Amino acid sequence: MEIPELKKIFLDTFGDDGKELRAFEAPGRVNLIGEHIDYCGGCVLPMALGMKTTLIARRRRDNVLRLKATDLDVTVETDIEKIEELCGKLFWGEYQLGTALELIKDGYDLCGCDLLYHDTVPHGSGLSSSAATEVSTALALSKLSGKETDMIKLARISQMAEKNFVGVECGIMDQFASAMGKRGHAIFLDCKTLSYEYIPLDIDGYKIVITNTNVKHALGSSEYNERRRECREGLSGFMRAMSDISELSEVSPEAFEENKGLIKNLTTQKRVRHIVYECERVKLAAGALKSRDLALFGELMNKSHESLRDDYEVSCPELDFIVKEGQKLNGVLGVRMTGGGFGGCAVALVGGDAADNYIDRISRGYREKFSRDATFYITEAEDGAHEVFI
Ligand code: GLA
Repeated sequence: MEIPELKKIFLDTFGDDGKELRAFEAPGRVNLIGEHIDYCGGCVLPMALGMKTTLIARRRRDNVLRLKATDLDVTVETDIEKIEELCGKLFWGEYQLGTALELIKDGYDLCGCDLLYHDTVPHGSGLSSSAATEVSTALALSKLSGKETDMIKLARISQMAEKNFVGVECGIMDQFASAMGKRGHAIFLDCKTLSYEYIPLDIDGYKIVITNTNVKHALGSSEYNERRRECREGLSGFMRAMSDISELSEVSPEAFEENKGLIKNLTTQKRVRHIVYECERVKLAAGALKSRDLALFGELMNKSHESLRDDYEVSCPELDFIVKEGQKLNGVLGVRMTGGGFGGCAVALVGGDAADNYIDRISRGYREKFSRDATFYITEAEDGAHEVFI
């Protein structure tokens, strides 16, 4: 749906009081490599997508926030002072209200607003529809309240919303990619310092193809928080030998091999092994992208998946099937799960001529094996969150 149509829905829903409508967009993201390491201080390599949340917003005279989505027959309405009372009680609207609450905690003096949301990021797919919702909300509310908007700060506020209101102890990657994406570029982001570099996606002749399993296994968020706990346990083990480290990302593969015996629990040891080697792979992948060594980039994607499947155990049969079958096909340089896992999407680097065959073969095989359809998106890197002037 384009903005003129959304404006019309907005006016039909909330009425026309003659006040100015403004439009904001924030994209979903796909992570090319560097999975489950953002919360361990690692570097990641996501890019913003064309799939996004579009938000039409208008200031109100009172202190009320009123929210509606184009695909849901629910309106959420609350006084700004009473947002916290709704925490955990809503069928829809938690990401938005959580973001409003975090803005307030950060000292933003929010004004009342009417907000209409339209999403094209598929929900529950691991492509960060939640980050798109949070970041678009943070941007709209801060702009309508007349505050200067530092996009990195808004990414942090959005991350806190997910953590405090929704209860997933996520890292910063998704919100950062949604806020800071750049057309034609991947973001090489150091999640410890938040320093970042845009790397041109010079993948001439290749395509980034996302396959959505269209499944989301229920364990997702509890296992996510459990992995974070295991990483903390692993970190305290390593700190006994390396007192100067503050994050697992600072453990080199050599230091890991030398000191891994300090971690008696073998499951925890596997988790840490994933973190340490994945951190290393991202650095190599960033170098490979800069030197246009796409074959190496693809190999690193494949290894990343293996580690997520065997050591970190966040994959699932549907993702493993897509990865295994995809890796067999001609013209496919690499395939891996992307995002939190337990369902969601796989991302593949596929030769332009091979993309149709990839889609055809995977879609048939997937349907035969799982009796459901996969969905495919051929994607390009797009800009991060911004106001659309209408
Ligand atoms: C989710 C989280 C991110 C990140 C990924 C895994 O998307 O929101 O912070 O941890 O999982 O890489």
